[in-house]
Amino acid sequence: MVKKLLILGIESSCDETGVALVQCEAASGSEQVPALLAHALYSQIAMHQAFGGVVPELASRDHIRRVLPLTQEVLANADCRLADIDVVAYTRGPGLAGALLVGAGVACALGAALGKPVLGVHHLEGHLLSPFLSADPPQFPFVALLVSGGHTQLMRVDGVGRYVLLGESIDDAAGEAFDKSAKLMGLAYPGGPLLARMAQEGNPKAYALPRPLLHSGNLDFSFAGLKTAVLVQSQKMVAAAGASNFEALPRVQQCDLAASTQAAIVEVLVRKSMTALKETGLTRLVVAGGVGANRQLRLQLNEACAKRNIRVHYPELHLCTDNGAMIALAAAMRLQSGCQQGVENYAFDVKPRWPLQTL
Ligand code: KG4
Ligand code: ZN
Repeated sequence: MVKKLLILGIESSCDETGVALVQCEAASGSEQVPALLAHALYSQIAMHQAFGGVVPELASRDHIRRVLPLTQEVLANADCRLADIDVVAYTRGPGLAGALLVGAGVACALGAALGKPVLGVHHLEGHLLSPFLSADPPQFPFVALLVSGGHTQLMRVDGVGRYVLLGESIDDAAGEAFDKSAKLMGLAYPGGPLLARMAQEGNPKAYALPRPLLHSGNLDFSFAGLKTAVLVQSQKMVAAAGASNFEALPRVQQCDLAASTQAAIVEVLVRKSMTALKETGLTRLVVAGGVGANRQLRLQLNEACAKRNIRVHYPELHLCTDNGAMIALAAAMRLQSGCQQGVENYAFDVKPRWPLQTL
């Protein structure tokens, strides 16, 4: 019988505590996709909303409160015991230093107590590999569009740990562009999903907003100017209507600006992804990260890929944003591919800044 490994994954890089159990074949070189046995998530969004964004100190303290109860929950749901765990994986970076230290500290303490190895995982590698947990997992090689709250990158992915950066945002990330524009519109943090909901009722062509770096000739992105254009447009609308603020405008105008903002972000992401596919000659696209949950982005990527005979893969919707499953999965795939082994010295460190291509 093939020996199996049970991997506990802990994610605590930002404002979500995620814990999961993944099972994989122990044999290195095994091509079998690891199986997700259980996962549990606690989102701190409600706590941070009062402050309009994530408060790092509060995030760290809340991870401390949540991580062990969540661990007990996944063990119970998977019908496993603590002693069954073979490897403890945690998010080593990038992210908020204090928040990362909670996950790393708990993982190393568990590893030491159980006498089992620990493995530090790159958060973006977790996102990038998360579509392998979907019903239709991708195959290497592929182009990855990583669109999260902190990163916007196009990568060429030839295998686990084989990542070449093709282009990235030189300022704000796509998620930040959604969140900052949403904030200007008076929406609560994180505004991305709320802006997307309003955009459904609006006309995406109502206001002409810039498509930054669309014709830059490279695969880099820039979203900081878009946020300024949204601010200027909203101020014009408020002045023209003699309204007290953006929220006092007729709903149709608010929805039109939301739709126009979303259209600008989505168009740049789609066009640059298509250029990356053309330049690399690859025929598979993998989309990952929180913004990958955006419906309009998915619709337009599906359409553009269908025209070019490109297969496109997404994570399951509930695994688009931060979660423990992607961390346990990335650890499993790194072990199977021989890229990394767990360590037993428990001298953990975290890497708040950590470029993926340096893995
Ligand atoms: O990957 P993620 O959970 O966290 C980071 O690693 O940053 O991504 C969170 C980001 C936030 O900016 C959030 O507003 C955005 O993903 N997001 C969305 C949607 N769902 C999440 N943006 C647009 N449309 C959505 N449906
Ligand atoms: Zn993330």
